[in-house]
Amino acid sequence: EKAEIGLIGLGTMGSNLALNIAEKGHRIAVFNRTPEKTDAFVANAGTLRDRLVPCKSLAELAEAIRPPRPVIIMVLAGQPVDDQIAALRGELAANDIIIDAGNANFHDTVRRFKELEGSGLTFIGMGVSGGEEGARHGPSIMVGGTEASWKRVEKVITAISAKFKGEPCAAWLGPDGAGHFVKTIHNGIEYADMQMIAEIYGVLRDGLGMGPKEIAPVFAGWNKGRLDSYLIEITAKALEADDPKTGRPVVDIILDRAGQKGTGKWSVIEAQQLGIPATAIEAAVAARVLSSLKSEREAAEKAYGKLSVTTFSGARDEVLKDLELALLAGKIAAYAQGFAVMSGASKEFNWNLPMPTIARIWRAGCIIRSQMLDTMAEAFGKGGAEVNLLMAPAFIDMMKQAHPSLRRVVARAAEAGLPVPALSSALAYFDAYRQGRGTSNLIQAQRDFFGAHGFERIDAAGAFHGPWGGTQG
Ligand code: 6PG
Repeated sequence: EKAEIGLIGLGTMGSNLALNIAEKGHRIAVFNRTPEKTDAFVANAGTLRDRLVPCKSLAELAEAIRPPRPVIIMVLAGQPVDDQIAALRGELAANDIIIDAGNANFHDTVRRFKELEGSGLTFIGMGVSGGEEGARHGPSIMVGGTEASWKRVEKVITAISAKFKGEPCAAWLGPDGAGHFVKTIHNGIEYADMQMIAEIYGVLRDGLGMGPKEIAPVFAGWNKGRLDSYLIEITAKALEADDPKTGRPVVDIILDRAGQKGTGKWSVIEAQQLGIPATAIEAAVAARVLSSLKSEREAAEKAYGKLSVTTFSGARDEVLKDLELALLAGKIAAYAQGFAVMSGASKEFNWNLPMPTIARIWRAGCIIRSQMLDTMAEAFGKGGAEVNLLMAPAFIDMMKQAHPSLRRVVARAAEAGLPVPALSSALAYFDAYRQGRGTSNLIQAQRDFFGAHGFERIDAAGAFHGPWGGTQG
C-alpha cells in the first residue's frame, strides 16, 4: 500500500508532524538526511510504526507515495529549503507537490512557487503554528498554493489540525505566499501579545512590588475572563515554576535578553512596505532588540540612576482591574493592526485573504489562540471589521470600556519610569485613529514651506501653496 504523503526532515517539528499524520490513520513515508535518525524515529514510534514507511533515499521516498505525491519538507528556513527542493526535483514527477512547512519568508515562497512553475511540480507554503505540542497533537495550519494542490492534501491536513468546537483549524488561504504571509503576521501578533504581557508583568513586579508567586494567580485569574488565551495561561504557569538548581522562581534566574528568529521583524518590514501602521508589533520587535543590549542598559541605569516608583500605589484591586483592561485594549489594537496588514497585503498581492477564516483557524492550536479570536471571527463574519477591527461594533463597545484603563496604566507607567512601549504604541495608535482632525495640517504646512510640496484645503478642492513669502520654491 502506497503512503498518502511524505515528509523530509525528522527534527522535533518534523517528527511530531509525521506522528500526528500516522496517528490520524494515514500512511506516511519519511526521510532524513542522516538515515540513523530515520531508523531511530521509526523504532520509537510504538504502535504508529506500521503506518511509517522509512526511506533511505529520495528515490525511495518518491516511490513510496501515491501520485500525485505530496512531500512535506520540514528543514531549517532559508537555503536548506532551496537545497531540498533542488534535490527533490529530480525524483518527483508532474503534479507532485512540495510543501514547505517551515517558517519561510513569504517572498521566498512566492519565488519558489514561480521557480517550480513550468517544471510541472507545484509548491505549497504552509504556515504551522503551535510549537512541538501543536505539531504532535493539532497545530493551526495556514496554507498557500493552488486550489488543486490543496484538494490533494486537504484530508490529511485537516485531520492533523487542531479543532475548535469540532471545526478544523486549517484552511487554504490563497495562492503562493498567502499561507506563509499569514503565519508571519500570526508571529508578529504573537510578539505584540507577549511583549504587552511582559510589560504588565513589569508593572506588577516593579510598580507594585509583587513577586512571581503573587503575580501568577493574577494572570491565572485573568485567564478565566476576556483575556483567556494560551499565552496568558503559560505566563501564569511560568511564573509558578521554580528553578531546580537554586530553588528560586525560574523567571528570576532567566536573563532578560530575548531572542528572535525573524518573523516578527518580517511582519514589521512588510507592514512598512505596505504602508500599514503596525506600531504595537514594531514596538514589540524593538523591545526585543533593546533587551539584547544588556550591558548598555546596565551602564545607562548607572548613568541615569533608578527611578523610585511611587505612582502605582492605591487600591490594589482597582490597579489590577486597570491592568487587565489595559491589556485587553492593547491587545485589540495590536490585532487590529495585524489584520490591517493582512488586508493591505491581500489587496497588494491580489490574494483575497479570507479574514473570518483566518480568525477562525487561529482559535485553537496556534500560539496566539484565545477566546478573543472567536469574537474576532464573529466580527469579521458579521461585517463591520473589514476596514479595521476597531470599527466592528463588538470591539467599539470593548474599547470604549477598556481604553480609559489603558490610558491610566500608560500614564502611570510613564510617570514611574516603567517602559511600556507596546502598550503605549497601541494607545497612541488608537488615539490617532479615533481623532477626526489630527495635526498633519501642520506637517503639510511645513512641507509646503520648505519644499513647495503643496497642500489640500478644507474648503476647496485642488492643490494650494501657503503665503510663506519669498521662502517658497
Ligand atoms: C508558532 C511559533 C513558532 C516560532 C517561534 C517564534 O506559531 O508555533 O510562532 O513558529 O518558531 O515560537 O519565534 P522567535 O520568538 O524565536 O522569533
